[in-house]
Amino acid sequence: MKTAFKDIQIVSRLGADERTLAFDVLDGLTRPFKEIPPKHFYDTEGSRLFEAITKLPEYYPTRTERAILEADAAHIVELTGMAELVELGSGVPTKTLLLLDAMREAGTLDRYMPFDVSEVVLRESAEMLVERYPGVRVFGVVGDFERHLDALPPAEGPRVIAFLGGTIGNFPPGSRRRFLRSLARALRPQDAVLLGVDLVKDPARLEAAYNDSAGITAAFNRNMLAVINRELDADFDLEAFEHVAFYDREQQWIEMRLRALRPMVVNVRKLDRGVHFANREELRTEISCKFTRKRLEADLAAAGLAPLEFLTDPEGLFALSVAGPAR
Ligand code: AVJ
Repeated sequence: MKTAFKDIQIVSRLGADERTLAFDVLDGLTRPFKEIPPKHFYDTEGSRLFEAITKLPEYYPTRTERAILEADAAHIVELTGMAELVELGSGVPTKTLLLLDAMREAGTLDRYMPFDVSEVVLRESAEMLVERYPGVRVFGVVGDFERHLDALPPAEGPRVIAFLGGTIGNFPPGSRRRFLRSLARALRPQDAVLLGVDLVKDPARLEAAYNDSAGITAAFNRNMLAVINRELDADFDLEAFEHVAFYDREQQWIEMRLRALRPMVVNVRKLDRGVHFANREELRTEISCKFTRKRLEADLAAAGLAPLEFLTDPEGLFALSVAGPAR
């Protein structure tokens, strides 16, 4: 079957002014409490490991979010009248298909606008989608959704900006509100956001999801060191770090760290620096915030967004929040 390439447009906003891995490593490894942001997990191997995580018995978020979408996608489409779906950090669209199917069924489907850092992934999914949904227009943005939302063309019909998977939990609370405000500013009165958020629950259940028995999350965590080794010509010994993940009840977030198993100096040749680790010193690689409905709605209000719907699974593990601009 022939692909209607004329319906695919991709713009790239990744350029020279990038806040790079080098910047984040220099900044993050020269502080008293070492930290590298989680976006650096996702090279090819990291994306593959994350895919494997989503299939683990302990890791409930992905399959739970999918179940909510299976039950409620039609309702979301009816509520919003959405004709355009913007998806932040789209990756390979799987759950997205449930929304696009519901849009097609409602007869509203016009445009899909994925936003991702990988041009290859965007192109491949765009080609798959125009075949699956004849007549749909795809407008992809290769960029960083924290800085390049302005790359989206003006909306032509009701637009929903989706940020699924619970990835909004990776922002610390201040940046999260700033980010939500930037989304609110991108909306017209008839538009909405759709946020996937992991919910506060029994800490044992949360901790199990980030300490799986097959050790995939540990490999995913350590892979960040492999990324730094390759990209910055560093010599981290991956075996010399152990995976740590725990729930911080006060902050209501999961924290992932890598703990040095001996004192060492790591050479980061591209930065011309040796980085010292004390025995048992920890490097934070991720926070993953867990929400209550109340906390989420306070964040939305602070960002100028009004909740329209809060959809959850029967066990109350995960939620999808639909919100529009506050009037
Ligand atoms: C993709 C950010 C939603 O926080 O649960 C999975 C990443 N980290 N296991 C999450 C992740 C460890 C995931 N997010």
